[in-house]
Amino acid sequence: MITARGISRSVNGRYILKSIDLEVKDGEVLAVVGPSGSGKTSLLRILNMLERDYQGSVLIGGRDIRDSGMAVRRSMAMVFQKPVVFSMSVYENVAYGLKLRKVPKAEIDARVKEVLALLDMSGKESEYARHLSGGESQRIAFARAYVVKPKLLFLDEPTANLDRQNVAIIEKAVRDINKRYGTTVVIVTHNMAQAKRLADRIAVVIDGELVETGTVKDILEKPADPRTKAFVSGDMVF
Ligand SMILES: Nc1ncnc2c1ncn2[C@@H]1O[C@H](COP(=O)(O)OP(=O)(O)O)[C@@H](O)[C@H]1O
Ligand SMILES: [Mg+2]
Repeated sequence: MITARGISRSVNGRYILKSIDLEVKDGEVLAVVGPSGSGKTSLLRILNMLERDYQGSVLIGGRDIRDSGMAVRRSMAMVFQKPVVFSMSVYENVAYGLKLRKVPKAEIDARVKEVLALLDMSGKESEYARHLSGGESQRIAFARAYVVKPKLLFLDEPTANLDRQNVAIIEKAVRDINKRYGTTVVIVTHNMAQAKRLADRIAVVIDGELVETGTVKDILEKPADPRTKAFVSGDMVF
């Protein structure tokens, strides 16, 4: 479980996150939605330990992440909006985290093969990753995250720049990793349709505030806050 308490972050004297309390349950898919510039990425970067400049605390497994070491980091994987691939082959990209974790070579080979099949990238092992298309690059970034069987997977608008076919492949892989390994997924998206397709619960962030959290059905059908209603029904300018 991730428990965030009183998370605030100010940059240049302006609060971009305002005392956010949020719980992410083990094994759930939580979508963080909200207009552009509302603070979704800033919040995610605090939860996934990339940003340390904030007030409040984040507990993972009951322990403040400020005091926890590499073990918690290694239980996490992330995929960003802009695909990140390393200057090496597709195989080396996907095997990267397994080599770090000293997994035996035969097991690495088997797991890489399997995850490439899942992301429809079989047979591309020896291709140079930087020469792939945008959609293929993102599938490799996702494969690299998937293959380490993370406990926690953080996704920041992972399909925002992709065409429908690539979106479908990545969304299938999100469902698959969640079901198969019980991976807890936090996905930032401004796309309500995607949140509806993937999430168990939705957290709505508007202007640095966590406006409300609820099941997909509740958020869509009976939002408690008028700002949620406006966002969900597309009235909000973003
Ligand atoms: N390091 C930073 N320095 C200055 N402003 C920032 C920084 N990070 C985020 N912001 C600002 O904080 C607000 C929220 O940004 P962000 O978390 O990226 O929103 P979202 O992901 O919802 O689009 C924006 O106004 C953005 O310009
Ligand atoms: Mg963002």
